[in-house]
Amino acid sequence: MGTLASRELELIRSQFAFGLRERIVTNNAASTQPPLAVWELLRDLSETYENVHRGQSDASIRTTEAFEASFDTIASWINAPSRDTLSMHRSTTEAINAAMYSLMADFRDGDNVVTTLMEHNSNYVPWHAMCREILPRFGRRVELRLARFDHDSGELDLAHLASLVDARTKLVTCCGGSNFLGTKPPLDRVRAIADAGAYAQPDGSTGALLLIDAAQLFASSRLDVQAMDADFVAFSLHKLLAPFGVGVLYAKKSLRETLPPFLYGGDMIAEGRVFPDRVEYNDLPWRFSAGTPNILGVIASAQTLRLLVDMVGADPDRAWFRTDDPLDPAAVDAAMGAVADHAASLTQRAIDGLAAIDGLHVYGVPAGRERTPLVAFNIAGHSPFAIARALNAQGVESRAGCHCATLAHRDLEIDPAASCRVSFTVYNSPDDVDRVIAAVRRAVDEPGLFASETAPVVGATPASASRG
Ligand SMILES: Cc1ncc(COP(=O)(O)O)c(C=O)c1O
Repeated sequence: MGTLASRELELIRSQFAFGLRERIVTNNAASTQPPLAVWELLRDLSETYENVHRGQSDASIRTTEAFEASFDTIASWINAPSRDTLSMHRSTTEAINAAMYSLMADFRDGDNVVTTLMEHNSNYVPWHAMCREILPRFGRRVELRLARFDHDSGELDLAHLASLVDARTKLVTCCGGSNFLGTKPPLDRVRAIADAGAYAQPDGSTGALLLIDAAQLFASSRLDVQAMDADFVAFSLHKLLAPFGVGVLYAKKSLRETLPPFLYGGDMIAEGRVFPDRVEYNDLPWRFSAGTPNILGVIASAQTLRLLVDMVGADPDRAWFRTDDPLDPAAVDAAMGAVADHAASLTQRAIDGLAAIDGLHVYGVPAGRERTPLVAFNIAGHSPFAIARALNAQGVESRAGCHCATLAHRDLEIDPAASCRVSFTVYNSPDDVDRVIAAVRRAVDEPGLFASETAPVVGATPASASRG
């Protein structure tokens, strides 16, 4: 494991606009910055811009081909068996909502959903709403159960998770990587726990379905949805260098073939097969693609993945960007392996440096163990918001707040429910990390230098926070 060589890293950084403006971007767990070549691609596409599946012009046909090929690129990126398993959405949040609406009608009175206290609100609030607000209107009571995590190590409490799963658990869902604690739950064991529930699914199988919120996992490791054996996997491309606006839901083909879509309307119907008394639907994957999709966003997102292989891949003589050639799995492995090693090594450097600051407490996974490439912390006597503003004044872009991991902040009794977070990706350098550490140290040592911040002070540890 290690950072990219400095020459390679300089070449990568030169391909991003932020590098020209000397920004130290460490809010990558929220969104990453797209490479300049992707903006150029979008500008070029504007010359052949047209709708897909809705025209006979060369422009429409070319755009349709590029759009459809994007499904293949993303499918091979996550080792999905085919494009038929994918639907495109605006974000991970919308992808999880799509799964929720598709599954909702199948929940029976007395069923339950099991999730965890470390979820992003995107993978808690939809299930909360379904169980507490929507299904009760149809007279169905479905319970939402929450598995605990260890407050010191951030580990998911698998024994507790297993104790919550029973013969009425239709769905188990958890994150592949926490955006606050850094935890990467062992998904093979979560799969085994879901399987051990004896729920009778409509297709005759037994056990709970498994949905993985892979928003953070996708950004920092190679996703292999078949190896994960998850029923649903949701993630967002804007967390891996693509522009905003594209989230993906993978669902096993058997589910795609039987579940109702989340949205109904144009393009998801079979051409001309709409009658006053019945509607016939389109083939997969377009059955799950109602209305005009985010065409340019999807094409740009898929091409960003190809560009990433070119930037960090092992073969300098092979260019994938601006082609639709079938991606080589070994090239994807190599690229994401390099991204993962680089980000992990920067994260370790950050933890080592931050840990030396008096009163600073890093949440979740202990130093030296595998985690998502982010560090969330508080410093005794300092508001995380004041720290983030002080970092900004020194050119370091971080994030303070609960990062939508509100349940975990509450469970740790952090009051107010907030921490400061820095997170890393392929374009960050060891120098960025050192500047983060120096900026935090200065914010602590010389708080008067930075704009005053009125937010309440947060204790450094869960225990002192609850006392304070
Ligand atoms: C674990 C996790 N799930 C879901 C989301 C939501 O992603 P999006 O904003 O693309 O909906 C995030 C974003 O930070 C996340 O970290």
